[in-house]
Amino acid sequence: LRIAVLFGGRSAEHDVSVLSATNVMRALDPAKYDAVPVFITREGQWLVSSFDYGNLSKPENGMEVCLVPGGCGRLIAIPADGAAYDLPKIDILFPVLHGLHGQDGSVQGLAEVARVPLAGCGILGSAAALDKEVAKRLLKEAGLPIARSTTIHQGVAPTFVELERELGLPVFIKPARQGSSVGVSKVTTEREFETALGEGFQHDRKLLAEEFVRGREIECSVLEDTTGGLFVSRPGEIVPAESHGFYSYEAKYIDDKGAALKVPAELPEEVESRIREMAGQAFRAVGCDAMARVDFFVTADMRLLVNEINTIPGFTDISMYSKAMAASGVSYAEIIDRLVQHGLS
Ligand code: DAL
Ligand code: MG
Repeated sequence: LRIAVLFGGRSAEHDVSVLSATNVMRALDPAKYDAVPVFITREGQWLVSSFDYGNLSKPENGMEVCLVPGGCGRLIAIPADGAAYDLPKIDILFPVLHGLHGQDGSVQGLAEVARVPLAGCGILGSAAALDKEVAKRLLKEAGLPIARSTTIHQGVAPTFVELERELGLPVFIKPARQGSSVGVSKVTTEREFETALGEGFQHDRKLLAEEFVRGREIECSVLEDTTGGLFVSRPGEIVPAESHGFYSYEAKYIDDKGAALKVPAELPEEVESRIREMAGQAFRAVGCDAMARVDFFVTADMRLLVNEINTIPGFTDISMYSKAMAASGVSYAEIIDRLVQHGLS
């Protein structure tokens, strides 16, 4: 089975995607899969990559490839100085891309257009989950508890005083369509608020101001089977180091002591089952299929809030998805097998 693994990409999470895809490539059983890595540059060009000695190449001047619309997996190589030619057809597309232009329904739409099966969440769930503001409205509509927030559009930001009155302090300012905490700030003063808006608007035209929830960060992995049933993993906990203030990009990927993972999370049994049930409900509410990681806050008095949903969760060494699945008896290779089966079904 030829599986095209897309990685890199145009989003701010380009480097995170490279880490995730490297682990996915390492987990693909060569006896079952003929993996075809495709590197997407920060500009969005698709280039032929290779996987040697456990590492993916990022050939900035490599050969372009193109997935043919309606081609049912037809993949064309386009040399810079020669005629285009067919590569062997691919059977399934596996985008290991995070954030905009990869996890937002765009590549998922491309798979539809190309008529090639897709491993992972489809167009609607991807688009809805990536937009934190839209996702929150869907979650709320489904009766799921979420942190209070206000949407900020460019040019119509509330004043700091209004924000403080509505959401209290500190408050988080987040781009609506970003992952890995890129562009996220924790704000306690008016000056920090101004800086946070500037930072946030560099990443999106729409921001969320969200109340600060004093709570533990708990995450659950969800994997749909070919009959539409949901497997929800045991929850894991992320314990960010005090020094980072919150689970920032640095705490995640730069500082290797930035956070610790506790899998499974230590939670009372009834709280764990409530979380797992809510993870499935959130997955459905946002229109997801195939795969997602559902993130929660759990307060000291065991109040549960859904924080967000990631349809292409990180697969880096520090990422929760595969660890929570492992704690529930599903290995890394098995996750990929199930995703592929789901995509082909
Ligand atoms: N957006 C990152 C990759 C995550 O949620 O794991
Ligand atoms: Mg999260």
